[in-house]
Amino acid sequence: MRMSTNIILAIESSCDETAISVVRFNGDSLEILSNEISSQVNLHAQWGGVVPNLATREHVKNITPLLNLSLRNAGIGISEVDAIAVTQGPGLIPALMIGTGFAKTLAYLWKKPLIGIHHIEGHIYANFISKYSNLELQVAKLKNKESLLQNSPNIKFPILCLVVSGGHTQLVLMKNHFKYQIIGQTLDDAVGEAFDKVARILNIGYPGGPAISVYAEKQKELTDSYKIKFPRPMINKPGYNFSFSGLKTAVLYETKKNPENLKNKNYIAEVCHEFQQAAIDVLISKTIKAAEKYSPKTIMLAGGVSANKELRKQLGEAITKNFKDTTYCIPPIELTGDNAAMIGAAACLRYAKLGTEQKRRTFTNWKSIQPDANLKMK
Ligand code: KG4
Ligand code: ZN
Repeated sequence: MRMSTNIILAIESSCDETAISVVRFNGDSLEILSNEISSQVNLHAQWGGVVPNLATREHVKNITPLLNLSLRNAGIGISEVDAIAVTQGPGLIPALMIGTGFAKTLAYLWKKPLIGIHHIEGHIYANFISKYSNLELQVAKLKNKESLLQNSPNIKFPILCLVVSGGHTQLVLMKNHFKYQIIGQTLDDAVGEAFDKVARILNIGYPGGPAISVYAEKQKELTDSYKIKFPRPMINKPGYNFSFSGLKTAVLYETKKNPENLKNKNYIAEVCHEFQQAAIDVLISKTIKAAEKYSPKTIMLAGGVSANKELRKQLGEAITKNFKDTTYCIPPIELTGDNAAMIGAAACLRYAKLGTEQKRRTFTNWKSIQPDANLKMK
């Protein structure tokens, strides 16, 4: 791939996070200059899920202040931005419309190229970010998070990427940059969706993933057991597809046996632990089977559920046990959820790959980039 230095201003608004980031690529490493996020989690938590109208209102309110903050913290002026990137889809259409509309306006006013990025491509490319600017590092140090920022990926193709988010569960094979072959995916619920629905059944809060993992951790301290066992759906089926809807229903039936149990924190901890382990077992088993068939040089995790500590740990252990020469790559925790740095990372590499003529054409791209709730990755 032909590489050159570029600075991208990236915008993400596909769900309930408004985010703007400045990312620099110098032909060798991808560096975050700023990464600003305004999360709406607390607002949506009271409704138990994302309310599209409220999300849209918050995106409109937050996007301009975030732009100012992002440029200021990156310490750059508009003239230094080479191109603008925006999440084009998939996601909530009213939410995507705010981000793409804003990005198109900036591209038109500032006379910059516009690059539309697939949200999941962004999650995957969070793994390619290698550096944080001094400012970002200082902020991380203040927050005692610097250890999480030491990402030095040694990524080689082919890559097998396990994508686990609120809307997607996929095994993606990449023989090169931006070449995606989906070799397996969920037939019903995404794994993040299952975490969220199970948390709702247990009434332990939204988003469900973090809440379930906290309870699951508590199970390790328990001495008594309810001997709860959940199925590992499709674990022995050939192929690399997943199914999580039956697992969620199994949790529902278990909790209906005796509703009084739901008042007991130890019971909830055990349900969470067993549910989480069932999901992890299936994800790991299918990933290892796919790796046996496709022999990737790198196995990667991506998406919001990749914040799950047990999944990160257990997948790492399974890879070390089964494949001596395979690199295991996980995004820094800060970049597992929705953010704009990942969109900027993908856009930097896409932009660097373009020839002069193709770059010239992206200057009028703002006219053609439309939000697409069901955008396919290609
Ligand atoms: O990637 P993401 O931020 O948004 C989508 O693109 O969908 O993923 C959000 C999902 C939610 O379902 C949330 O419950 C899940 O990621 N999640 C987790 C954890 N943190 C977030 N799931 C399991 N364990 C976690 N620690
Ligand atoms: Zn996401």
